[in-house]
Amino acid sequence: MTATVAIDSYFTPVPDEIEAIDLVVEGALPPELNGRYLRNGPNPKPGAPPAHPFVEPGMVHGVRLKDGAALWYRNRWVRTSLFTESATRVRPDGSLDLAACHANTHVIEHAGRTFALVESGLPYELSLDLDTVGPCDFQGRLTTAMTAHPKADPVTGDLHFFGYGVRPPFLTYHRLSASGELVQSVPVEVPGPTMMHDFAITEDYLVWMDLPVVFERTELGVPYRWSDSYGARLGLMPRKGGPVRWFEIEPCYVFHVGNARQDAAGRVVLDAVRYDRATFRNEWDLAAGKEKTGSVPGQMLHRWTLDPRTGVRSEQQLDDWSLEFPTLNENLVGLQNRFLYLVGGGSVVKFDTVNGERGVHRLPDGAKPGEAVFVPAENARAEDDGWLLTIVSNRIAGTADLLVLDATDVAARPVATVHLPRWVPSGFHGSWVPESVVR
Ligand SMILES: [Fe+2]
Repeated sequence: MTATVAIDSYFTPVPDEIEAIDLVVEGALPPELNGRYLRNGPNPKPGAPPAHPFVEPGMVHGVRLKDGAALWYRNRWVRTSLFTESATRVRPDGSLDLAACHANTHVIEHAGRTFALVESGLPYELSLDLDTVGPCDFQGRLTTAMTAHPKADPVTGDLHFFGYGVRPPFLTYHRLSASGELVQSVPVEVPGPTMMHDFAITEDYLVWMDLPVVFERTELGVPYRWSDSYGARLGLMPRKGGPVRWFEIEPCYVFHVGNARQDAAGRVVLDAVRYDRATFRNEWDLAAGKEKTGSVPGQMLHRWTLDPRTGVRSEQQLDDWSLEFPTLNENLVGLQNRFLYLVGGGSVVKFDTVNGERGVHRLPDGAKPGEAVFVPAENARAEDDGWLLTIVSNRIAGTADLLVLDATDVAARPVATVHLPRWVPSGFHGSWVPESVVR
């Protein structure tokens, strides 16, 4: 059952779908962790020709925890129409089939439903057992793709998101109510179609990142490239309505936002992982399986401060470690947070945005952590009172574990290690779905 051979690459896929029950746990799983940890990522079918991981079929891995036990693990491809029928993106009449996508990027819960997401298409609903229910357009109301990085407002329960496309409107803002109804869709004017992977919210604003990775059909099926002429702008759009105020910034790319918030002076502070031109191009090539060219600095945590009254903006690097996949206590999305959790190399890092200190959990050789999802403790008394859940893939051992760390002390030994029945490739994003929210 357990693989014992070294694995070629962290993206080496698994060939099939399996399930296992009563997993072996080292340490003690907190009994209050009652729900499912779900994680999405690219996993081509066996024998498929190589492609960029961004356009491979999605596979969701899930681990069910309850009362201190790991009840099951299972993995399932997200069976989109592109996966099952090789449906084509453009219909004979020229219209786009937004269900013809590979929903491989994120998996979330909203209003009791589970969705696999990719920014190029519609969300796909999954069952509790990770079987694919089908595409969801919210009763015909969603007419654009949906980002894989929606933001749940911890105050209202609304889910804010956007869709971008290569045809006008290039960018559309959407809002789902807490009960899961699509209640708002507003086009946002931008100069052209760009790859907009993420965005941010604050109490009063939506924060847009109009950055210079523009649409252009390229070899491996990911139709984007860096542009030296597009420029780079951040936009503040009042949530109550009104025009977007744009701020020119130093050209860069951002895949992932840590958080945004408003400070006492009413300025919007955005913390995100920034790529300069060389870093972006290097990362893009590496993901496509090309060789790294020369020495390129990595992506780093960065802060932009935008004043909507004066139009003044400033920016600063927050850290000099090359990290990615920032997460936080999601009860503080758009609000004052102090801690971000990131991963890089063989470490899970807790970054203190107030004093710049890092807590580091370094893993053994060959082990690479995926995004670390924060789960608040029951009756939490501090922002970091909770757990970090991450799937760790070990290339040397050919194994994978679900690690549970104490977020107040990430450097300490894991609270629990759930041994998964076999290798799990690196993926993109995931969520903890408490049993209490599933209907
Ligand atoms: Fe992402």
